[in-house]
Amino acid sequence: MTCKIGVLVSGRGSNLEALLKATTSGFIKNAPIAIVISNKPGVRALDIAKRFGTPTEVIPVDVQDRAAYDAKLADALIRHGVEPGSGMVLLAGFMRLLTPEFVGRYSGRMLNIHPSLLPSFPGLNAQQQALDAGVKVTGCTVHFVVPEVDAGPIILQRAVEVAEGDSLESLSARILKQEHVIYPHAVKLFVEGKLTLKGRKVIIRP
Ligand code: GAR
Repeated sequence: MTCKIGVLVSGRGSNLEALLKATTSGFIKNAPIAIVISNKPGVRALDIAKRFGTPTEVIPVDVQDRAAYDAKLADALIRHGVEPGSGMVLLAGFMRLLTPEFVGRYSGRMLNIHPSLLPSFPGLNAQQQALDAGVKVTGCTVHFVVPEVDAGPIILQRAVEVAEGDSLESLSARILKQEHVIYPHAVKLFVEGKLTLKGRKVIIRP
């Protein structure tokens, strides 16, 4: 069965690009990206989607009511065939909190990528948080989305060593490279039915 994917973005779109490459090259099968939705107009992620011939929508944050905003998101996803029971939603640098109602609708079918080894350094500026804390190892995490920020069951992680003299830019770039590896891999595992949720744990079947 086809699992239609909706990707939510806010900016640069490098993870979106990695996901588009994975779904169009056959690395991930039977799971086309059906719609890319941005909360900001004019961002690079939208150009990337267009380059791949993928439909896009901009849903600007013109309403303060979060429930009304998320209802618009759900409408757009469903219009493009990303149904709560059979589709999948991927957050790829989507810098907006989602309501528990929206998260509940796509519960167990919505993933996020975060640039730290969660549960360390959730929230904004994760790479700077790692530098400030003086950790020797950080990395990135793909996890299921729950209503709490960056807190859902962990699917895959990659560690990245912090080098002496790393700048925010140099560390972020090395983490980003690993993000582009583990995000498509986690989506492939999900689409192939290899992930089972047991409480907070994600069991990966070989
Ligand atoms: C990525 O580093 C992603 O991990 C991060 O935003 C960046 C988006 O880049 N997400 C978060 O911090 C979520 N808490 P991209 O638009 O090039 O994919």
